[in-house]
Amino acid sequence: MVKVRLGAVAESAELDWLIASHKSSPFLLNFTRNSFRTPRKRGSRLRVIRGLFPLEARPGLISLLAGKPNASTFPLTSIQLKVRSPTDPNEETVTEVSGEALAEGLQYGPTAGIPSLIDWVYGLQEQEHGRKTGEGWRVSIGSGSQDVIYKAVQALFNPGESVLVESPAYAYVGRIAHLNLVGTSDLKVETDSHGILSSSLRSILENWPAGKPKPKALYTVPYGCNPTGMSAILERRKEVLTLAQEHNFLILEDDPYYYLYYGKADRAPSYFTLELELPEVGRVLRFDSLSKIISAGIRIGFLCGPDPLLAAIDMHTAVASLQTPSLTQTITFTILNSWGYAGFKTHTERVSQFYREKRDVFEAAMRHHLDGLAEWDTPEAGMFFWFKLLIESEGEGDSESIIRTNAVQRGVLALPGTVFLPSGRKTAYVRASFSLLPAEQVDEALKRLRAVILEARSG
Ligand SMILES: Cc1ncc(COP(=O)(O)O)c(C=O)c1O
Repeated sequence: MVKVRLGAVAESAELDWLIASHKSSPFLLNFTRNSFRTPRKRGSRLRVIRGLFPLEARPGLISLLAGKPNASTFPLTSIQLKVRSPTDPNEETVTEVSGEALAEGLQYGPTAGIPSLIDWVYGLQEQEHGRKTGEGWRVSIGSGSQDVIYKAVQALFNPGESVLVESPAYAYVGRIAHLNLVGTSDLKVETDSHGILSSSLRSILENWPAGKPKPKALYTVPYGCNPTGMSAILERRKEVLTLAQEHNFLILEDDPYYYLYYGKADRAPSYFTLELELPEVGRVLRFDSLSKIISAGIRIGFLCGPDPLLAAIDMHTAVASLQTPSLTQTITFTILNSWGYAGFKTHTERVSQFYREKRDVFEAAMRHHLDGLAEWDTPEAGMFFWFKLLIESEGEGDSESIIRTNAVQRGVLALPGTVFLPSGRKTAYVRASFSLLPAEQVDEALKRLRAVILEARSG
Protein backbone atom coordinates (compact mmCIF):
# COMPACT_ATOMS: atom_id res chain seq x y z
CA MET A 1 0.00 0.00 0.00
CA VAL A 2 1.33 3.43 -0.89
CA LYS A 3 1.09 5.92 1.92
CA VAL A 4 1.53 9.35 0.54
CA ARG A 5 1.76 12.12 3.06
CA LEU A 6 0.79 15.26 1.25
CA GLY A 7 2.68 18.29 2.32
CA ALA A 8 0.36 21.23 2.19
CA VAL A 9 -3.01 22.71 1.43
CA ALA A 10 -5.10 19.64 0.71
CA GLU A 11 -8.77 19.78 1.55
CA SER A 12 -9.89 17.02 3.82
CA ALA A 13 -13.54 16.40 2.91
CA GLU A 14 -12.76 16.13 -0.77
CA LEU A 15 -9.85 13.81 -0.07
CA ASP A 16 -11.93 11.62 2.24
CA TRP A 17 -14.38 11.19 -0.57
CA LEU A 18 -11.70 10.40 -3.10
CA ILE A 19 -10.01 7.92 -0.82
CA ALA A 20 -13.32 6.18 -0.15
CA SER A 21 -14.02 5.93 -3.86
CA HIS A 22 -10.55 4.52 -4.44
CA LYS A 23 -11.02 1.75 -1.91
CA SER A 24 -13.57 0.14 -4.19
CA SER A 25 -11.39 0.54 -7.28
CA PRO A 26 -9.84 -2.64 -8.62
CA PHE A 27 -7.01 -0.64 -10.20
CA LEU A 28 -5.63 1.74 -7.72
CA LEU A 29 -2.99 1.85 -5.12
CA ASN A 30 -4.51 2.58 -1.79
CA PHE A 31 -4.14 6.05 -0.38
CA THR A 32 -5.10 6.21 3.27
CA ARG A 33 -6.70 9.08 5.15
CA ASN A 34 -3.78 9.15 7.55
CA SER A 35 -1.49 9.79 4.64
CA PHE A 36 -2.63 13.36 4.21
CA ARG A 37 -1.71 16.40 6.19
CA THR A 38 -4.43 18.98 5.74
CA PRO A 39 -5.13 22.38 7.23
CA ARG A 40 -8.85 21.61 7.43
CA LYS A 41 -10.50 24.97 7.86
CA ARG A 42 -8.76 26.84 5.12
CA GLY A 43 -9.16 23.89 2.76
CA SER A 44 -12.89 23.59 3.34
CA ARG A 45 -13.48 27.28 2.68
CA LEU A 46 -11.75 26.92 -0.68
CA ARG A 47 -13.92 23.94 -1.49
CA VAL A 48 -17.03 25.93 -0.64
CA ILE A 49 -16.20 28.45 -3.33
CA ARG A 50 -14.46 26.64 -6.22
CA GLY A 51 -15.88 23.18 -5.52
CA LEU A 52 -19.40 24.49 -6.15
CA PHE A 53 -18.63 25.94 -9.58
CA PRO A 54 -19.73 22.79 -11.48
CA LEU A 55 -23.23 23.09 -9.94
CA GLU A 56 -23.76 26.31 -11.87
CA ALA A 57 -24.24 24.22 -15.01
CA ARG A 58 -27.24 22.39 -13.48
CA PRO A 59 -30.38 23.22 -15.47
CA GLY A 60 -32.80 25.48 -13.62
CA LEU A 61 -30.34 26.40 -10.88
CA ILE A 62 -30.04 30.12 -10.19
CA SER A 63 -26.52 30.92 -9.08
CA LEU A 64 -25.65 33.75 -6.74
CA LEU A 65 -22.37 32.03 -6.08
CA ALA A 66 -19.26 33.25 -7.79
CA GLY A 67 -17.82 36.72 -8.05
CA LYS A 68 -17.54 36.30 -11.80
CA PRO A 69 -17.33 39.56 -13.73
CA ASN A 70 -20.11 40.21 -16.24
CA ALA A 71 -18.66 39.29 -19.63
CA SER A 72 -20.80 41.84 -21.47
CA THR A 73 -18.41 44.47 -20.12
CA PHE A 74 -15.33 42.80 -21.72
CA PRO A 75 -13.97 44.41 -24.89
CA LEU A 76 -12.88 41.29 -26.82
CA THR A 77 -15.51 40.01 -29.28
CA SER A 78 -13.57 37.38 -31.25
CA ILE A 79 -10.06 36.15 -31.92
CA GLN A 80 -8.94 35.07 -35.35
CA LEU A 81 -6.26 32.38 -35.38
CA LYS A 82 -4.21 31.67 -38.48
CA VAL A 83 -2.90 28.17 -38.01
CA ARG A 84 -0.39 26.18 -40.09
CA SER A 85 -1.77 22.98 -41.52
CA PRO A 86 -0.07 19.95 -39.99
CA THR A 87 0.16 18.26 -43.37
CA ASP A 88 1.47 21.27 -45.27
CA PRO A 89 3.17 24.03 -43.23
CA ASN A 90 2.85 26.41 -46.20
CA GLU A 91 -0.91 26.20 -45.99
CA GLU A 92 -2.76 28.31 -43.42
CA THR A 93 -6.24 27.84 -42.11
CA VAL A 94 -8.21 30.53 -40.35
CA THR A 95 -10.05 29.54 -37.20
CA GLU A 96 -12.08 31.85 -35.06
CA VAL A 97 -12.50 31.77 -31.31
CA SER A 98 -15.90 33.29 -30.69
CA GLY A 99 -19.31 32.58 -29.14
CA GLU A 100 -19.31 30.03 -26.31
CA ALA A 101 -15.65 29.13 -26.74
CA LEU A 102 -14.64 32.77 -26.36
CA ALA A 103 -17.03 33.24 -23.44
CA GLU A 104 -15.38 30.28 -21.71
CA GLY A 105 -11.96 31.70 -22.50
CA LEU A 106 -12.77 35.12 -21.06
CA GLN A 107 -14.29 33.88 -17.81
CA TYR A 108 -12.98 32.21 -14.66
CA GLY A 109 -13.01 28.44 -15.13
CA PRO A 110 -12.45 25.22 -13.20
CA THR A 111 -9.19 24.93 -11.23
CA ALA A 112 -8.04 21.80 -13.09
CA GLY A 113 -8.67 23.28 -16.53
CA ILE A 114 -11.43 23.92 -19.05
CA PRO A 115 -13.47 20.79 -19.85
CA SER A 116 -12.88 20.85 -23.63
CA LEU A 117 -9.09 20.82 -23.27
CA ILE A 118 -9.21 18.24 -20.49
CA ASP A 119 -11.33 15.94 -22.66
CA TRP A 120 -8.91 16.39 -25.51
CA VAL A 121 -6.04 15.36 -23.19
CA TYR A 122 -7.97 12.24 -22.10
CA GLY A 123 -8.29 11.25 -25.76
CA LEU A 124 -4.61 11.93 -26.39
CA GLN A 125 -3.44 9.91 -23.39
CA GLU A 126 -5.59 6.98 -24.46
CA GLN A 127 -4.03 7.04 -27.93
CA GLU A 128 -0.47 7.68 -26.85
CA HIS A 129 -0.28 5.82 -23.54
CA GLY A 130 -3.21 3.40 -23.59
CA ARG A 131 -4.69 4.96 -20.46
CA LYS A 132 -8.45 5.08 -20.32
CA THR A 133 -10.69 7.31 -18.29
CA GLY A 134 -12.31 5.61 -15.31
CA GLU A 135 -9.03 4.05 -14.19
CA GLY A 136 -8.80 6.46 -11.27
CA TRP A 137 -6.53 9.04 -12.87
CA ARG A 138 -7.35 12.47 -14.10
CA VAL A 139 -5.90 15.58 -15.69
CA SER A 140 -4.88 19.00 -14.39
CA ILE A 141 -3.81 21.69 -16.81
CA GLY A 142 -0.90 23.86 -15.71
CA SER A 143 0.75 27.07 -16.89
CA GLY A 144 3.42 24.95 -18.53
CA SER A 145 4.54 21.67 -17.02
CA GLN A 146 6.90 23.60 -14.73
CA ASP A 147 3.90 25.00 -12.91
CA VAL A 148 2.45 21.60 -12.08
CA ILE A 149 5.86 20.11 -11.24
CA TYR A 150 6.39 22.89 -8.72
CA LYS A 151 2.96 22.39 -7.20
CA ALA A 152 3.34 18.61 -7.10
CA VAL A 153 6.53 19.00 -5.10
CA GLN A 154 4.84 21.44 -2.75
CA ALA A 155 1.87 19.13 -2.30
CA LEU A 156 3.75 15.87 -1.92
CA PHE A 157 6.63 16.65 0.36
CA ASN A 158 6.91 17.69 3.94
CA PRO A 159 10.06 19.41 5.19
CA GLY A 160 12.90 16.96 5.64
CA GLU A 161 11.51 14.24 3.40
CA SER A 162 13.63 12.72 0.68
CA VAL A 163 13.21 12.69 -3.07
CA LEU A 164 15.26 10.68 -5.53
CA VAL A 165 16.49 12.86 -8.40
CA GLU A 166 18.28 11.52 -11.46
CA SER A 167 21.72 13.00 -11.93
CA PRO A 168 22.56 15.01 -13.97
CA ALA A 169 19.14 16.62 -13.62
CA TYR A 170 17.06 19.40 -15.12
CA ALA A 171 18.50 22.42 -13.34
CA TYR A 172 15.22 23.85 -12.05
CA VAL A 173 14.50 20.61 -10.26
CA GLY A 174 17.99 19.20 -9.85
CA ARG A 175 19.50 22.31 -8.37
CA ILE A 176 16.37 22.20 -6.35
CA ALA A 177 15.41 25.78 -6.09
CA HIS A 178 11.91 24.76 -5.23
CA LEU A 179 12.58 21.48 -3.51
CA ASN A 180 14.62 23.51 -1.08
CA LEU A 181 11.61 25.68 -0.38
CA VAL A 182 10.01 22.72 1.32
CA GLY A 183 13.29 21.70 2.92
CA THR A 184 13.35 18.39 1.11
CA SER A 185 16.60 16.54 0.66
CA ASP A 186 17.49 15.14 -2.74
CA LEU A 187 19.33 11.92 -3.40
CA LYS A 188 21.14 11.62 -6.67
CA VAL A 189 20.57 8.57 -8.80
CA GLU A 190 23.21 7.97 -11.46
CA THR A 191 22.25 7.79 -15.13
CA ASP A 192 23.96 6.89 -18.41
CA SER A 193 22.88 7.24 -22.02
CA HIS A 194 20.28 4.47 -21.52
CA GLY A 195 18.54 6.02 -18.54
CA ILE A 196 18.60 5.59 -14.80
CA LEU A 197 21.17 3.09 -13.54
CA SER A 198 19.01 0.78 -11.53
CA SER A 199 22.11 -0.43 -9.67
CA SER A 200 22.56 3.12 -8.31
CA LEU A 201 18.88 3.34 -7.38
CA ARG A 202 18.89 -0.10 -5.78
CA SER A 203 22.01 0.69 -3.79
CA ILE A 204 20.45 3.87 -2.32
CA LEU A 205 17.26 2.03 -1.39
CA GLU A 206 18.86 -1.12 -0.03
CA ASN A 207 21.31 0.82 2.12
CA TRP A 208 18.61 3.08 3.48
CA PRO A 209 18.99 3.72 7.25
CA ALA A 210 16.57 1.64 9.28
CA GLY A 211 13.84 3.75 10.87
CA LYS A 212 14.20 6.65 8.41
CA PRO A 213 11.20 7.04 6.05
CA LYS A 214 12.17 5.94 2.55
CA PRO A 215 12.10 8.43 -0.34
CA LYS A 216 8.60 9.15 -1.45
CA ALA A 217 9.25 9.79 -5.13
CA LEU A 218 11.76 9.63 -7.98
CA TYR A 219 12.05 12.50 -10.47
CA THR A 220 13.12 11.63 -14.02
CA VAL A 221 13.07 13.07 -17.56
CA PRO A 222 12.87 9.87 -19.60
CA TYR A 223 13.06 11.21 -23.17
CA GLY A 224 15.77 13.52 -24.51
CA CYS A 225 16.69 14.42 -20.95
CA ASN A 226 17.62 17.99 -20.16
CA PRO A 227 20.67 18.18 -19.89
CA THR A 228 22.04 14.76 -20.95
CA GLY A 229 19.91 14.08 -24.02
CA MET A 230 19.48 10.47 -22.84
CA SER A 231 16.32 8.49 -23.53
CA ALA A 232 15.60 5.67 -21.13
CA ILE A 233 15.38 2.23 -22.72
CA LEU A 234 12.56 -0.18 -21.92
CA GLU A 235 14.62 -2.49 -19.73
CA ARG A 236 15.73 0.37 -17.47
CA ARG A 237 12.19 1.71 -17.20
CA LYS A 238 10.96 -1.71 -16.11
CA GLU A 239 13.74 -2.04 -13.54
CA VAL A 240 12.86 1.37 -12.12
CA LEU A 241 9.17 0.46 -11.90
CA THR A 242 10.01 -2.81 -10.14
CA LEU A 243 12.05 -0.88 -7.59
CA ALA A 244 9.25 1.65 -7.20
CA GLN A 245 6.92 -1.17 -6.35
CA GLU A 246 9.40 -2.90 -4.01
CA HIS A 247 10.32 0.28 -2.14
CA ASN A 248 7.00 2.02 -2.50
CA PHE A 249 7.76 5.34 -4.16
CA LEU A 250 6.01 7.44 -6.78
CA ILE A 251 7.55 8.23 -10.17
CA LEU A 252 7.46 11.87 -11.28
CA GLU A 253 7.70 11.38 -15.06
CA ASP A 254 8.62 14.80 -16.46
CA ASP A 255 8.39 14.28 -20.23
CA PRO A 256 8.46 17.59 -22.16
CA TYR A 257 10.62 16.03 -24.92
CA TYR A 258 8.40 12.99 -25.47
CA TYR A 259 7.18 14.30 -28.83
CA LEU A 260 10.75 15.17 -29.82
CA TYR A 261 11.78 11.51 -30.09
CA TYR A 262 13.56 10.87 -33.41
CA GLY A 263 15.38 7.61 -32.68
CA LYS A 264 15.30 4.89 -35.37
CA ALA A 265 13.97 2.16 -33.07
CA ASP A 266 10.37 2.13 -31.84
CA ARG A 267 10.04 4.31 -28.79
CA ALA A 268 9.88 2.74 -25.31
CA PRO A 269 6.50 3.13 -23.61
CA SER A 270 6.11 5.78 -20.95
CA TYR A 271 6.07 4.95 -17.23
CA PHE A 272 2.43 5.97 -17.36
CA THR A 273 1.81 3.13 -19.82
CA LEU A 274 4.13 0.64 -18.19
CA GLU A 275 2.52 0.90 -14.78
CA LEU A 276 -0.48 -0.88 -16.33
CA GLU A 277 1.66 -4.03 -16.16
CA LEU A 278 1.89 -3.74 -12.36
CA PRO A 279 -0.75 -5.30 -10.11
CA GLU A 280 -2.07 -1.82 -9.38
CA VAL A 281 -1.76 1.69 -10.85
CA GLY A 282 -1.46 5.12 -9.28
CA ARG A 283 2.29 5.26 -8.87
CA VAL A 284 3.07 7.57 -11.79
CA LEU A 285 2.54 11.31 -12.03
CA ARG A 286 3.06 12.17 -15.69
CA PHE A 287 3.93 15.75 -16.72
CA ASP A 288 3.43 16.68 -20.39
CA SER A 289 4.23 19.97 -22.04
CA LEU A 290 3.05 21.70 -25.20
CA SER A 291 5.98 24.13 -25.02
CA LYS A 292 8.20 22.35 -27.54
CA ILE A 293 5.46 21.50 -30.01
CA ILE A 294 2.81 24.25 -29.92
CA SER A 295 4.41 27.25 -28.23
CA ALA A 296 6.53 27.83 -25.15
CA GLY A 297 4.91 31.21 -24.56
CA ILE A 298 1.38 29.90 -24.52
CA ARG A 299 2.31 28.16 -21.22
CA ILE A 300 0.27 25.00 -21.35
CA GLY A 301 1.31 21.72 -19.76
CA PHE A 302 -0.68 18.95 -18.18
CA LEU A 303 -0.37 16.54 -15.33
CA CYS A 304 -1.99 13.10 -15.27
CA GLY A 305 -2.11 10.97 -12.14
CA PRO A 306 -4.22 9.59 -9.32
CA ASP A 307 -7.20 11.68 -8.20
CA PRO A 308 -6.21 12.21 -4.55
CA LEU A 309 -2.80 13.61 -5.47
CA LEU A 310 -4.21 15.83 -8.19
CA ALA A 311 -6.87 17.11 -5.79
CA ALA A 312 -4.11 18.24 -3.45
CA ILE A 313 -2.09 19.74 -6.29
CA ASP A 314 -5.15 21.62 -7.55
CA MET A 315 -5.46 23.20 -4.12
CA HIS A 316 -2.10 24.81 -4.74
CA THR A 317 -3.32 26.16 -8.07
CA ALA A 318 -6.47 27.45 -6.40
CA VAL A 319 -4.51 29.44 -3.82
CA ALA A 320 -1.71 30.53 -6.17
CA SER A 321 -3.60 31.69 -9.26
CA LEU A 322 -7.14 30.18 -9.13
CA GLN A 323 -6.47 28.42 -12.46
CA THR A 324 -4.35 28.31 -15.59
CA PRO A 325 -5.62 31.14 -17.86
CA SER A 326 -8.86 30.09 -19.59
CA LEU A 327 -8.00 32.08 -22.70
CA THR A 328 -4.75 30.28 -23.47
CA GLN A 329 -6.50 26.98 -22.80
CA THR A 330 -9.29 27.92 -25.22
CA ILE A 331 -6.84 28.99 -27.91
CA THR A 332 -4.84 25.78 -27.44
CA PHE A 333 -7.98 23.66 -27.63
CA THR A 334 -9.15 25.48 -30.78
CA ILE A 335 -5.86 24.72 -32.54
CA LEU A 336 -5.73 21.08 -31.42
CA ASN A 337 -9.37 20.48 -32.19
CA SER A 338 -9.02 21.95 -35.68
CA TRP A 339 -6.19 19.44 -36.35
CA GLY A 340 -7.74 16.38 -34.69
CA TYR A 341 -5.51 13.68 -33.17
CA ALA A 342 -4.27 12.59 -36.60
CA GLY A 343 -3.21 16.17 -37.41
CA PHE A 344 -1.52 16.50 -34.01
CA LYS A 345 0.45 13.31 -34.69
CA THR A 346 1.50 14.54 -38.13
CA HIS A 347 2.56 17.87 -36.64
CA THR A 348 4.60 16.33 -33.81
CA GLU A 349 6.28 13.92 -36.23
CA ARG A 350 7.30 16.86 -38.38
CA VAL A 351 8.64 18.71 -35.33
CA SER A 352 10.67 15.69 -34.23
CA GLN A 353 12.15 15.32 -37.74
CA PHE A 354 13.10 18.99 -37.64
CA TYR A 355 15.09 18.39 -34.46
CA ARG A 356 16.63 15.19 -35.85
CA GLU A 357 18.02 17.22 -38.75
CA LYS A 358 19.32 19.86 -36.31
CA ARG A 359 20.93 17.08 -34.27
CA ASP A 360 22.62 15.69 -37.38
CA VAL A 361 24.00 19.08 -38.42
CA PHE A 362 25.31 19.69 -34.90
CA GLU A 363 26.87 16.26 -34.61
CA ALA A 364 28.57 16.56 -37.99
CA ALA A 365 30.14 19.83 -36.81
CA MET A 366 31.10 18.20 -33.49
CA ARG A 367 32.89 15.42 -35.39
CA HIS A 368 34.61 17.95 -37.59
CA HIS A 369 35.82 20.33 -34.87
CA LEU A 370 35.88 18.37 -31.62
CA ASP A 371 37.07 14.93 -32.65
CA GLY A 372 39.57 13.84 -29.99
CA LEU A 373 38.77 16.92 -27.90
CA ALA A 374 35.37 15.89 -26.55
CA GLU A 375 33.28 12.76 -26.00
CA TRP A 376 29.54 12.40 -26.34
CA ASP A 377 26.61 10.04 -26.90
CA THR A 378 24.24 10.79 -29.75
CA PRO A 379 20.85 11.96 -28.42
CA GLU A 380 17.75 10.30 -29.85
CA ALA A 381 15.29 12.88 -28.58
CA GLY A 382 15.18 16.47 -27.45
CA MET A 383 17.49 19.37 -28.20
CA PHE A 384 20.67 18.89 -26.19
CA PHE A 385 24.16 17.53 -26.63
CA TRP A 386 25.91 16.62 -23.39
CA PHE A 387 29.63 16.30 -24.00
CA LYS A 388 32.76 15.85 -21.97
CA LEU A 389 35.70 18.11 -22.67
CA LEU A 390 38.93 16.14 -22.84
CA ILE A 391 40.99 18.75 -21.05
CA GLU A 392 42.95 16.79 -18.43
CA SER A 393 45.32 13.91 -18.94
CA GLU A 394 44.42 12.64 -15.45
CA GLY A 395 41.03 12.92 -13.78
CA GLU A 396 37.91 14.45 -15.28
CA GLY A 397 38.73 18.16 -15.07
CA ASP A 398 36.32 21.03 -14.73
CA SER A 399 34.51 22.80 -17.55
CA GLU A 400 33.14 25.63 -15.43
CA SER A 401 35.69 28.42 -15.84
CA ILE A 402 36.48 27.37 -19.41
CA ILE A 403 32.84 27.66 -20.41
CA ARG A 404 31.91 30.62 -18.23
CA THR A 405 34.98 32.72 -19.03
CA ASN A 406 37.18 31.57 -21.93
CA ALA A 407 34.31 30.45 -24.17
CA VAL A 408 32.36 33.65 -23.56
CA GLN A 409 35.48 35.70 -24.38
CA ARG A 410 35.73 33.85 -27.68
CA GLY A 411 32.05 34.49 -28.32
CA VAL A 412 30.33 31.21 -27.58
CA LEU A 413 27.81 30.53 -24.84
CA ALA A 414 26.97 27.11 -23.37
CA LEU A 415 26.31 25.72 -19.90
CA PRO A 416 28.93 24.04 -17.72
CA GLY A 417 27.78 20.63 -16.52
CA THR A 418 28.10 21.47 -12.83
CA VAL A 419 24.86 23.46 -13.13
CA PHE A 420 23.00 20.17 -13.59
CA LEU A 421 24.61 18.12 -10.86
CA PRO A 422 22.53 18.07 -7.68
CA SER A 423 25.80 17.99 -5.67
CA GLY A 424 27.23 20.91 -7.69
CA ARG A 425 30.53 19.00 -8.00
CA LYS A 426 33.11 19.78 -10.67
CA THR A 427 32.65 18.10 -14.03
CA ALA A 428 34.16 18.33 -17.50
CA TYR A 429 30.71 18.04 -19.11
CA VAL A 430 28.98 20.81 -21.05
CA ARG A 431 25.41 21.19 -22.27
CA ALA A 432 24.83 22.66 -25.72
CA SER A 433 21.41 23.28 -27.19
CA PHE A 434 21.03 22.73 -30.92
CA SER A 435 17.43 23.87 -31.30
CA LEU A 436 17.94 27.32 -32.80
CA LEU A 437 21.16 27.81 -34.72
CA PRO A 438 21.51 27.57 -38.49
CA ALA A 439 24.32 25.34 -39.82
CA GLU A 440 26.82 28.21 -40.38
CA GLN A 441 26.50 29.37 -36.79
CA VAL A 442 26.79 25.84 -35.44
CA ASP A 443 30.00 25.49 -37.40
CA GLU A 444 31.36 28.79 -36.12
CA ALA A 445 30.36 28.04 -32.50
CA LEU A 446 32.11 24.68 -32.51
CA LYS A 447 35.17 26.16 -34.21
CA ARG A 448 35.38 28.66 -31.36
CA LEU A 449 34.86 25.92 -28.80
CA ARG A 450 37.67 23.94 -30.39
CA ALA A 451 40.01 26.89 -29.89
CA VAL A 452 38.92 27.19 -26.25
CA ILE A 453 39.57 23.49 -25.58
CA LEU A 454 42.96 23.56 -27.29
CA GLU A 455 43.92 26.59 -25.21
CA ALA A 456 42.81 24.81 -21.99
CA ARG A 457 44.78 21.70 -22.93
CA SER A 458 47.93 23.67 -23.58
CA GLY A 459 47.61 25.77 -20.41
C1 LIG B 1 13.01 18.77 -18.18
C2 LIG B 1 12.11 19.94 -18.24
N1 LIG B 1 11.00 19.95 -17.47
C3 LIG B 1 10.14 20.97 -17.51
C4 LIG B 1 10.35 22.05 -18.32
C5 LIG B 1 9.36 23.18 -18.30
O1 LIG B 1 8.56 23.11 -19.43
P1 LIG B 1 7.25 24.03 -19.59
O2 LIG B 1 7.58 25.04 -20.61
O3 LIG B 1 6.18 23.07 -20.02
O4 LIG B 1 6.95 24.63 -18.27
C6 LIG B 1 11.50 22.11 -19.12
C7 LIG B 1 11.76 23.28 -19.98
O5 LIG B 1 12.66 23.38 -20.72
C8 LIG B 1 12.39 21.01 -19.09
O6 LIG B 1 13.51 20.98 -19.84
